[in-house]
Amino acid sequence: MAMTRSRTSYQCRDCGAVTLRWAGRCPTCGAWNTVEEEIPDIDATDGPTARPRRPGEPPVELHTLDGAARPLLATGLAELDRVLGGGLTPGSVTLLAGEPGIGKSTLLLQMLSTLAGSGRRSLLVSAEESLPQVHRRADRLDALGPGMWVAAETDLARIRASTADLAVDVLVVDSIQTVSDPATASPPGSVAQVRTCAQHLVDDAKSGGPAVVLVGHVTKDGSIAGPRVLEHLVDTVLTFEGDRHDTLRMLRAAKHRFGPVGELGLWEMTGAGLSEVADAGARLLADRRSGAPGSVVFAAMEGRRPLLVEIQALVAQAIPGAARRSAAGYDSSRLTQLLAVLERRAGVALAGYDVYVSAVGGVRVGDPGADLAVALAVASAATGRVVDDGLIVLGEVGLAGELRRVPDPLRRLADASRLGFHRVVAPPGTAVPDPLALIGASTLDEALDRHLGRLVSPPRLRVVSSGRPS
Ligand code: TYD
Ligand code: MG
Repeated sequence: MAMTRSRTSYQCRDCGAVTLRWAGRCPTCGAWNTVEEEIPDIDATDGPTARPRRPGEPPVELHTLDGAARPLLATGLAELDRVLGGGLTPGSVTLLAGEPGIGKSTLLLQMLSTLAGSGRRSLLVSAEESLPQVHRRADRLDALGPGMWVAAETDLARIRASTADLAVDVLVVDSIQTVSDPATASPPGSVAQVRTCAQHLVDDAKSGGPAVVLVGHVTKDGSIAGPRVLEHLVDTVLTFEGDRHDTLRMLRAAKHRFGPVGELGLWEMTGAGLSEVADAGARLLADRRSGAPGSVVFAAMEGRRPLLVEIQALVAQAIPGAARRSAAGYDSSRLTQLLAVLERRAGVALAGYDVYVSAVGGVRVGDPGADLAVALAVASAATGRVVDDGLIVLGEVGLAGELRRVPDPLRRLADASRLGFHRVVAPPGTAVPDPLALIGASTLDEALDRHLGRLVSPPRLRVVSSGRPS
């Protein structure tokens, strides 16, 4: 659909929404100071509402197509291949999104080096770092394979030409925010530039080109142009995350056209680059202090990977009328609901207290099966009573205070005994692997009763505002 826009339009560089009037706050996503003027592209079909243009190909009869997919390009980094479901799909476009400094360039350099080890040719477009900088880093990472080409280039036309000339298997553009298409009038880094450049690279990839990986920086508030707009254009979105104060790095597929989403890749950032975390269970529990109130271990499942995650809670006297609730790695509205259930169904009243909950190591537990662990951690923190170190907790908490079973308990708990756990608190009927013992509890009240003693009288809670055991 060709559409010529005669009026100036404005676009949110965060969510990509287009408006005809400038606004200080995006009417669609509510972000402040993200709406900018869109200068119409020279090719007016390339407006924000235009459909992606693909090189013209006539329709074909479906059954005449060759069903054999091109084999995946295994990257040789086991954790990355796990997240991708085997490797990069030839001709696909992947966005690697993450905050600056998290390790995106490092990961990709290591990937290109292992790919070079299996004879794959690649081009790394380093639009942010100079070639000597890239060389120094590659040298330090021992990632200097043959067939790895680099270019410190920001001009899209030259990037496309080099990619075609070198006939590479993989193209990495680090980052998509710094390249620009001279044929597009918008300034570099603007939403129109980012989208246009990505669209051209997608078109090249789809017409027999390389597997493309685009790096996209995002800040915590998502305020840099690009990634959200790109999500619709690319086949795969990988998010690279980690706690600023921890060396653990986590990779997840937020969108993946060619494989599963939800798989988790784990690395440790070391002096010699990213090193794969072989024993995730032991790594995440390594810093756990035994005998601390407010600490409970939950058996999580990230994709097909079981993970034992420590949930910590802290309960402290609040400024009257201003009790805070804060959740890191756990849904905060879920926490509010859980605190209401704790109060109404188990008699643990926390109205005058601040409650902080955190999944340790920067892990995010999206799974309602973590409810019981969070509830026990909060109750333990509130009372100062310690939950047994060898205990794992597994169960969803309903509004009536009833406990529900979670899927896949045997896989979740497979590693638990090796890591020193011996008992599991979960709803009756939960299957647990030998030699773990199940302690069944049908309600939240019953679970608390067995592990923290009777909590029902709120006055007991008041004893512990110092955080010390009562
Ligand atoms: P980088 O890959 O440049 O991050 P991004 O591309 O996402 O901005 O990684 C930057 C950080 O990683 C930097 O703070 C230094 C650290 N780092 C290490 O700790 N060890 C290493 O071997 C390398 C290469 C980087
Ligand atoms: Mg970088």
